[in-house]
Amino acid sequence: MSESRYIYLDNSATSWPKPPAVAEAMTRFLDEEGGSAGRGSHTRAIHAAASVFAAREAAARLLGVTRPQRICLGPGATWALNQALYGLLKPGDRVLACVTNHNAVRRPLLDLARRRVIELDWFAPPDHTRPHEPAELDRLLGEKQPRMLCLNHVSNVLGTVQPLAELTAAAHAHGVLVLADVAQASGVVPLELERWGVDAAAFTGHKGMLGPQGTGGLYAAPGVEPIPLMRGGGGTAIADDMPEKLPERLECGTYNVVGLVGLTAGIGWLLDRGVEDLHRRKTRLLERLLAILEKNGARLLGPPEVEKRAPLAAFTVPDRDANRLAADLEEHGGIQVRSGLHCAPGAHELAGTRESGAVRVSLGAFNTEGDLDALDRTLGEILA
Ligand SMILES: Cc1ncc(COP(=O)(O)O)c(C=O)c1O
Repeated sequence: MSESRYIYLDNSATSWPKPPAVAEAMTRFLDEEGGSAGRGSHTRAIHAAASVFAAREAAARLLGVTRPQRICLGPGATWALNQALYGLLKPGDRVLACVTNHNAVRRPLLDLARRRVIELDWFAPPDHTRPHEPAELDRLLGEKQPRMLCLNHVSNVLGTVQPLAELTAAAHAHGVLVLADVAQASGVVPLELERWGVDAAAFTGHKGMLGPQGTGGLYAAPGVEPIPLMRGGGGTAIADDMPEKLPERLECGTYNVVGLVGLTAGIGWLLDRGVEDLHRRKTRLLERLLAILEKNGARLLGPPEVEKRAPLAAFTVPDRDANRLAADLEEHGGIQVRSGLHCAPGAHELAGTRESGAVRVSLGAFNTEGDLDALDRTLGEILA
């Protein structure tokens, strides 16, 4: 795909391009290293184990976690969320979950509720334009008395950045465990999971963290000890079960070392530039993006205030089919965006777009004003 013909504005699905250091590190690993971590004591295996540890350390730094051993690495946020939900919930537990959750949370919870393992209650922000109110959550937690609260830090449809520290404090006041989906937040907004007291959080490597697909993981605070979702190689071969301790307890099978090497490089690039500075830059672009949408008569999903949002914007245009509009953007201007329900039907329900779906533009670290000029021009031409 020729680079110049396309403008990529779908960074919430997966970020592209990656910093050159990502492919360089992966190529170097494949060409010169290529060992398997925890499988052997020769130098190549030891180097691979060091690469896995480096990814753990880098992810911990980015997430605001001081103990890298509490970061369990796996193929992505979907794995991490399934691991946390099936590994922590017990028969009879009650869960309070936000309606805007991605299917990676929603489907495991619905499965557990359907099989009557858990009692499931849903909660929502006051409307699609506002974040949760800690006082209202406090009231609900008192009423429902769940064991676990499941919510996203950033909705992949509404873009809302939730006040995770305050919501976690509200949950802890009721002795409730907090599982946060930070797939859209990690690498995008500054995170301090440990200071905020979040009990468990699922992150992904291939979006804001600028790593390759097939990377991500679960942060579990000390005392949060999920039962492994899968069992296999790892730890002492003679033992009949997985190791007792995190992270190895949840990490079976051969590590995706090549992916993790790329993830470390992506995170390194982010940490060098500063997540906060990059976020500030993307917020300026987001301001422009919202102005373009407004000028073109689009209806925005989520908060109108940029300071309450991550750099993504889903929208509808009256009397225009969302899928057609996204296809037209690519056909006419080479602009790649995502349309539909974005795997989060509850967020669309809240915004009143469950039937129509929406078009989502999501900005990445490498988008420019020029990309938005092209969007503005193409949208104007299509809607004229
Ligand atoms: C909010 C949210 N949660 C979870 C996921 C799943 O992440 P992964 O691709 O790492 O499985 C996504 C990806 O689209 C997401 O947007």
